[in-house]
Order: sequence, then structure tokens, then C-alpha cells
Amino acid sequence: MLTMDSKTQNCAAQYLPLAPVSPNQALLPLTAQVNNLDYLAIGGCDVKTLVERFGSPLYILDEATLRTACRVYRDSFAQYYPGESLVIYASKAWSCLAICSIVASEGLGFDVVSGGEIYTTLTALEQGRGSGDFSQKIYFHGNNKAKEELKLAVENAITIIVDNWLELETLVEMAAEESKPIGIMLRLTPGIECHTHEYIRTGHLDSKFGFDPNQLDSLFSYISKQEKLHCVGLHAHIGSQIFEQQPHQDLAHVLVGWLKKATEIYGLPIQELNIGGGLGISYTEQDDPPSIEAWVKGVATAVVAACKENNLSLPKLIAEPGRSLIGTACVTAYTIGSRKVVPGIRTYIAVDGGMSDNPRPITYQSLYRAVVGNRMSAPLTEKVTVAGKHCESGDILIPDALLSETKAGDILVVMGTGAYNYSMASNYNRIGRPAAVLVNEGEANLILMRENYSDLIRQDRLPERLL
Ligand code: LLP
Repeated sequence: MLTMDSKTQNCAAQYLPLAPVSPNQALLPLTAQVNNLDYLAIGGCDVKTLVERFGSPLYILDEATLRTACRVYRDSFAQYYPGESLVIYASKAWSCLAICSIVASEGLGFDVVSGGEIYTTLTALEQGRGSGDFSQKIYFHGNNKAKEELKLAVENAITIIVDNWLELETLVEMAAEESKPIGIMLRLTPGIECHTHEYIRTGHLDSKFGFDPNQLDSLFSYISKQEKLHCVGLHAHIGSQIFEQQPHQDLAHVLVGWLKKATEIYGLPIQELNIGGGLGISYTEQDDPPSIEAWVKGVATAVVAACKENNLSLPKLIAEPGRSLIGTACVTAYTIGSRKVVPGIRTYIAVDGGMSDNPRPITYQSLYRAVVGNRMSAPLTEKVTVAGKHCESGDILIPDALLSETKAGDILVVMGTGAYNYSMASNYNRIGRPAAVLVNEGEANLILMRENYSDLIRQDRLPERLL
């Protein structure tokens, strides 16, 4: 949780990370500061100058926060898990060349869920400064993978996390044509409930993902007869934005029990256990997720204990976080425009983006916090509802935001927009996706170009008879 000192208590500067904090617990990126003009600066770049240079809205991604989160995950596993471990980035949170390249250079692997994510990751590894051999570090998820996607994965020695019987049968057919066995893992649905939004819960029994536990025997038995499938591990993911530690620790025990069955009864060569992602982040000061280190320690300890109880050697332990690696590393800067006062009810201020660049509030009723980035030490005196610019009444980014006084032209900075914002962005109302910049030590580099009008009609075709 956030600590406030008395100087900053009633102004936006209260959101600055004062004491060292786990990246997933900070509201603003770790390098956030207020400069001498009272502007918010991230990675040594102030948000006002960034907007002048790159336009608005603008995603501002802090390289140091992302790298720190990668290192804390990696180092915590090294510290608390005596066996081999690997952290893979759930790139659905935000996949683009620069991000994949940074994550790779920190030694993490990748969880990919589509041909597009595979292509982006492989291109980043080819062109960027990744490190070493990635053939054992990319894992392909999905409950309805297309044959072409599976083919792309097989061609690139990507491990396929098999979700269902149809996929398994397809892979058996494909493997018959291959010279080497295809590496797979199995996604299982453990029936573990956790308290998070219904849409982002995936590990309970009534889920579209994975094999049901009552199919385990037939599943293991079938796979044990497939010479051309090499089953290296078991996987489960119980949900996202989770603050409790117990569900993942329970999951560790369940998975280790299944691993014992798979190896001892069915002789499967399983050496990997993937515990999924799901650790939450702080979007508001009310959110209180465990630190990355505490989460890793809890999971690692549970796996070690379960293996000891079952007399098993330690598997390679994999975790696949997305949100807690990148969520708090990014903010979105908007320019404030019109204002509407509904007397006695509320005041709306509108920004130049909204549900097309951040669909999470309208989709999940997610809460965000914002600051006026060009007036960081002004007192928080206004309660306003921050509206987007889309033609939809529900396009509200923040209901009842507590801000300093605002006027048109001010920069509104919404925090915690690194995960599932750009990756879920749309062109609703034919609005182009914003640009994204990577900031680090005073340098700002464009990593995603703003979509312009011609980008918006690039895929349009006018049939001849309409000309
Ligand atoms: N592994 C699997 C199999 C997943 O399905 C997910 C997320 C992750 C890992 C990463 O979970 P994380 O560490 O990011 O919680 N769009 C929603 C979130 C959907 C999560 C989908 N799966 C949102 O904006 O909250």
C-alpha cells in the first residue's frame, strides 16, 4: 500500500513511489518524479514535453520499471526455488517488438496465444537484442488454435500447451509428418476459485479452457501411447488480478499430485510445472497485492513442500505473469478538452481518448487513478468524472476522480495502463490507436506509431461496381 507523507498528502505527488516498492505495488512507474516546473516526469522525460513531441493520447512506458519487474521475478525464483525455473511473459498483456525485445534481454521466455503473437515475438528475437537460444522458452496457449498457427509453432520448436482433445488429435496427425517429436504441455482446469472479475477467471471448472480433472486418466493414458508427442509438463492458470496468495499455493499442491500420477502411473516424461500468471497490481491505493517477491516465495515454497510430501524431485517451475510485469510500467497521457457541469449531479471533463485506447473500465468496470501531469503539487479540490470522446455514454474512464483544478489543454495522466490497454485497443469510431513511447534516463523513443487516417482505411476495399 502507498505511504504518504504530510507534504504530499493532498496533491497528486502522493502517488509517487516514495519508499522502495515492488513494481506491481506502485501506482506510478518507479522512476516517476515531479520536476521543477511541477510536471510529472517518467524515465527522466516530462509528460508535457512528451505530449508536445509525440502527440496525445500517448502511452508512456518506463523501461526501468519493466526491467525491474522482470529481474525481481527472475531473481526471486533463483532465491526461493532450489530447482530450475523460468519466467515467461504473458505477451497478451502487451505485445510489440520493443517490449518483446526488452523482456527477452532480461532472460525471460514468452507465453504466446496466437500466430500474431508468435510472429511478433520471433521477429523481436531476430531483430532485437534478445539473449541466447529461445527454442525452449516460448509456449503457445489457446483453446482453439488454428492449424496454421500450430504449424508455425511446430516449425519454430515452440512448446504447445494443449487445451483439448481436438487439438491433441490434430497434433498427433501433424507429428506423424515430422521427423522429431512435438513438445507439448497439458493445460488442466484445477477447479480452484479465486476472487476476481468473472471474465478474468479461468481455473474454475466451468471454464472454456483446459482439460477437466476427471479426464486425467484417459488423457495421460492416450498421450503415453503417442510416440511422436513429447509431453514435458503440466499447466494451469487460475485467473488474473489476484491478491490472495492461497489459490496459487493450493494449485501447486494439486499440480504436483497430478505430476506424480502422470509420471509414476503413466510414465510420462514430465519435468515442467507451469503455475500460470495472475498476480495482481495496484490500480488504486485501495488495492493491496502481495509483492512479486512474496508471491514467488509462496509459490516456490508450496511446490517444494508438495514435492517433498510426494517424494518427487523438483520439476522446472514456470510462471507466466503478464499484468504484474508491465501493468504499472506505463501511463497514458491525455489532453483535457470539454467540460460539462450537470448542476447538483456531476461535472464531466472529457479527454481526447477513451474506450478505444483503454477498454477496461467499460468492459470490467475497472478503476483507475489519474493526476494532472502539469500541476502535480496543486491541491486535489475537484471531483470530476473523466469521460472519453467516443459516441457512447458508457465511455467513462474514471467516475468521480479526485483531481486538482483542471482546464482545457491540461495533461491528464492515467496510471497503470501497461497491461491489457494497447493489446485490447480498438479503432472504435474510426479513431486511430495512440502512439507509445519508451522512456529511459531522459531519452524517449517511439515504439508504436500513432495510427493516422490512411492507416484507418488501409484494409478498406471499394468494389469496382461502387466506383
Ligand atoms: N497465462 C494464461 C494462460 C492466461 O490466460 C493469462 C491471462 C496469463 C497467463 C497472464 O495473466 P496475468 O498475469 O496478466 O494476470 N483482459 C483482462 C485480463 C485477461 C487475462 C487473460 N489471461 C484484463 O484486462 O483484466
